[in-house]
Amino acid sequence: MRTALECEGLTKRYGGLLAVDGLKLCVAQGEAYGLLGPNGSGKSTTIGMIVGVLAPDSGIARVHGHDVWRQPRQAKGLVGYVPQEVALYPDLTGRENLRYFGRLFGLRGRRLAERVSALLDVVGLADRADQLLGTYSGGMQRRINIAAGLVHEPSVLILDEPTVGVDPQSRNAILESVQRLVADGMTVLYTSHYMEEVEKVCDRVGVIDHGRILAEGTPEELMGMLAPGGRTEIEVEGDVRAAEAAVAALAGVTVTAHRSRLLIAWGEGADRLADVLRALDGVVTVVRTEAVRPTLEEVFLQLTGTSLRD
Ligand SMILES: Nc1ncnc2c1ncn2[C@@H]1O[C@H](COP(=O)(O)OP(=O)(O)OP(=O)(O)O)[C@@H](O)[C@H]1O
Ligand SMILES: [Mg+2]
Repeated sequence: MRTALECEGLTKRYGGLLAVDGLKLCVAQGEAYGLLGPNGSGKSTTIGMIVGVLAPDSGIARVHGHDVWRQPRQAKGLVGYVPQEVALYPDLTGRENLRYFGRLFGLRGRRLAERVSALLDVVGLADRADQLLGTYSGGMQRRINIAAGLVHEPSVLILDEPTVGVDPQSRNAILESVQRLVADGMTVLYTSHYMEEVEKVCDRVGVIDHGRILAEGTPEELMGMLAPGGRTEIEVEGDVRAAEAAVAALAGVTVTAHRSRLLIAWGEGADRLADVLRALDGVVTVVRTEAVRPTLEEVFLQLTGTSLRD
């Protein structure tokens, strides 16, 4: 397994605030790594140091072995950076914007035209390519921003919260583009505070808070860190309050009722569903039972004591 991206001891202070605190990160070639953390957890600061726009106080970042600060030309050439803010020209068309960035990277003539057309396809905007960027929706501008980060055929693509504030259609288009790029072998570093996105797009996730990685693993591994036990949702017909009371009387089982549904949880130990169903027998009719999967949101809550979204 080749390493595409690695950081060690990466640290950044803003005055008295320790924004990134000795961060260590290792992303394999072809891997999609998600940095999941709430607002202000240090995601953009970390990325700024990896792409070489923000000088670290200490620590190193390497891209395919090239030190971002000692060998910036080699390192930066391998990285495509899609910043959190759109950095494009509203008075140029989508295609002209991409041509502009292509020229900055030394592309000319037919090669440039072909590259730009291919990128417009990647982000699904070929049909709008010749309209002014200023007339695009926020989500479409984001998609052109992503294409701009890909113009020089980087081997590592770094996306900083690419779906914040975009409409659902563009959000799906962005996620699908990223998934396609990963399928084609791109290494991706993706930051987000939406666990569903990171779960969808990323092979491995690092949970970041206060500039430190608190836990790391595949989404499944992270969910496996949750306190053991089980949860089941039970839909009932009849007197829901009576059903709730019947289950609440069981030791070691907690229950909350919402409309016609009961959410049942029990701690470590034997499966309690059979006990619960026995308790409900003769009280209500059970329409449906369904095991409830843990979410990354809960993992986050358990690790940090705070919620992922404000
Ligand atoms: N230029 C700056 N000057 C002072 N403090 C800063 C600066 N940039 C970031 N910070 C602070 O550093 C911390 C980390 O910020 P950063 O932007 O890296 O977080 P983030 O995880 O990207 O957040 P968001 O999800 O809101 O984009 C925050 O407390 C932020 O207020
Ligand atoms: Mg940020």
